[in-house]
Amino acid sequence: MPDLGEEAMDHAVALARKAGEMVREALQNERSIMCKSSSVDLVTQTDQKVEQLIVSSVKEKFPTHSFIGEESVAAGQPCVLTNNPTWIVDPVDGTTNFVHGYPFVAVSIAFAVNKELEFGVVYSCLEDKMYTARKGKGAFCNGQPLQVSDQKEINQSIIATEFGSNREPEVVDKIFSTMRNILCLPVHGMRGVGTAATNMCLVASGCVEAYYEIGIHCWDVAAGAVIVSEAGGLLMDVDGGPLDLMSRRVLAANNKTIAERIIKEIEVFKPTRDDAPMDK
Ligand code: IPD
Ligand code: CA
Repeated sequence: MPDLGEEAMDHAVALARKAGEMVREALQNERSIMCKSSSVDLVTQTDQKVEQLIVSSVKEKFPTHSFIGEESVAAGQPCVLTNNPTWIVDPVDGTTNFVHGYPFVAVSIAFAVNKELEFGVVYSCLEDKMYTARKGKGAFCNGQPLQVSDQKEINQSIIATEFGSNREPEVVDKIFSTMRNILCLPVHGMRGVGTAATNMCLVASGCVEAYYEIGIHCWDVAAGAVIVSEAGGLLMDVDGGPLDLMSRRVLAANNKTIAERIIKEIEVFKPTRDDAPMDK
């Protein structure tokens, strides 16, 4: 008899694959684009349709489970992690990429029980790469084991980050100031493929030493967090504290030496938490 985690993970992989097909198909057609919090925070019908597919299928198979999904939260659902088995879903991570046809788009599905992440599935659907990891059982890409880089020298490293969608000049200044600090260490390079989940899978794959961002949401990073830690990496808050999924801040690194070096360079700020009470 498969256990709950295994059954749920098999289902997540099947759903991520189906969702990926929907994304690839939608890229062949005209995309209807809408804005959420601002003109650079985009959503499309595909984001909503993919989330509906995942939610309805999970509800049918696991009727007692809870959900946190990017588009459900945008529609007013609460974003609170309880002890109940919970699916944390980003139907289209890299919506801006999707809108522009920039070729990195991921479906991200994580599963938590008692507030602990049990597994993560990230399907980079245009590359056809299925990243999977279950707590204690290793991380894989298309079935091949993943291992983070063993690099300890910051000046031999590639660091990933993103600009996010906050365009307040003071916030943009902080983002640039951090990038400048890190570039000047110096590092070999800085990268970012436009999806938090895929950036984390690149850390797990060993081709990027670390990824950090302030402003992400729990659904962007929950699945990637399991994949990074099962590939031997570590997760932290950008201030060096433990990762808090709701804090909207993440640092994923191959090891403590690289993580601690980057933390010294980050201009930390505090976005509104994902689980902050909603305005009435
Ligand atoms: C975004 C992407 C992007 C990151 C943003 C996320 P979305 O997710 O992961 O890389 O910079 O912080 O919100 O909106 O494409 O699902
Ligand atoms: Ca996302």
